[in-house]
Amino acid sequence: MDKLIIRGGRRLEGEIRISGAKNSALPILLSSLLTDERVIISNVPHLHDITTSLTLLGNMGAEVVIDEKLNVEVDPSTITSQTAPYELVRTMRASILVLGPLLARHGRASVSLPGGCAIGSRPVNIHIRGLQEMGADIVVENGFIEATTHGKRLQGAEIDLGMVTVTGTENLMAAATLAKGTTLLHQAAKEPEVVDLANYLNTLGARIEGAGSDHITIHGVEQLTGGHYRVMPDRIETGTYLIAAAITGGRVKLKDTDPTLLTVVLEKLQETGATIRCGSDWIELDMEGKRPKAVDLVTAPYPDFPTDMQAQFTALNAIAQGSGKITENVFENRFMHVQELQRMGAKIELSGSSVTVHGVESLTAAPVMATDLRASASLVLAGLVARGNTVVDRIYHIDRGYETIEEKLAQLGASIRRVPGNYKGQVVREGSASE
Ligand code: UD1
Repeated sequence: MDKLIIRGGRRLEGEIRISGAKNSALPILLSSLLTDERVIISNVPHLHDITTSLTLLGNMGAEVVIDEKLNVEVDPSTITSQTAPYELVRTMRASILVLGPLLARHGRASVSLPGGCAIGSRPVNIHIRGLQEMGADIVVENGFIEATTHGKRLQGAEIDLGMVTVTGTENLMAAATLAKGTTLLHQAAKEPEVVDLANYLNTLGARIEGAGSDHITIHGVEQLTGGHYRVMPDRIETGTYLIAAAITGGRVKLKDTDPTLLTVVLEKLQETGATIRCGSDWIELDMEGKRPKAVDLVTAPYPDFPTDMQAQFTALNAIAQGSGKITENVFENRFMHVQELQRMGAKIELSGSSVTVHGVESLTAAPVMATDLRASASLVLAGLVARGNTVVDRIYHIDRGYETIEEKLAQLGASIRRVPGNYKGQVVREGSASE
């Protein structure tokens, strides 16, 4: 397993481009199972989770071709299997997104039940209930979700999701595109990735209205066609690099992104004292060499503060002036990065679903280990300002969601490098990592 070695203390400056959104690309690629015609998806990020999705599609018999510009062409007309095996679902929970499309298009699906994960129990009961309300027969046995429509089309239904679930909304919305009649989803997730998926499906001939609001209406059609779609920019990657600039007192410009996707995050960054300028597809953050001010925040579904940015703000608060309280309301166990940050000298008190972070002047390098994707990002951010060489282990988590993070950070002037898992160099002593 590779590690990252980061020598802290450099102010980041420069420009980088933001990749396509992981959380859009995944449902978009997987819902290609709804059609029989070729689709071409561009701006797909080069990430482990994308490779897993393409492997999943390939295992089912779809033909997948990737060109040199990373446009992904999927031909789902050759599908022979409707199974998502444990080996793949285990490494990527979003594999559950094949359930709705397979049932809607092929009338059956066998999907390994995703287990709990580092950030909480993460059940999929709402996905299952929604599909049952659309007429599917679903049992869970031997660790698999076994679903069938008994050869019939799914039926449009009025479904109250009961709580906001992003992939739950995506699964049901995708399935409903081919259902007989109209489906109404109440308490739908309003995340921009849901809107991106709806726009994609509509380019294939689906009739989805209201995506981005609490109520989505899907008028079922007989079939979807092929098409070409460009994935939206990654708002979480964008936010992470903005924090990289803020935490180091630097100035960075991010291109190929969309400031309208990050309103609350940009407001919080302004509260830290950063100056932010935006154009239609770029954002520049300038911290002018200052130390950021600590902020309070509470995570909640979009358009409120994203849980996927919580760990990065915890790292920012760790070196900020003052104290900030961070409350996590989406997942029950999403503070696994706190103990690692404490090992780097952060002063953080954990109490239930909140942490209070008392900013310190500087952190010190330590070997740290990541437990999930965004937690890993927070450790890299902390490493950028820690004295000495921070070694972040288990970075396969980062590779799931950040395209070439070490190259992008190096382009902004960070001292960072990737080493193989068996690396035994003297990495903790300051100055020992070669630049
Ligand atoms: C998606 C994102 C993830 C993000 C999360 C919340 C993808 C691939 N992943 O995950 O990056 O952190 O949204 O913004 O898009 N829940 C249930 N029953 C269900 C489904 C969900 O109880 O059937 C609960 C979950 O345990 C959690 C909450 O709902 O507490 C929100 O989870 P959800 O929105 O479903 O997260 P994901 O879609 O898995």
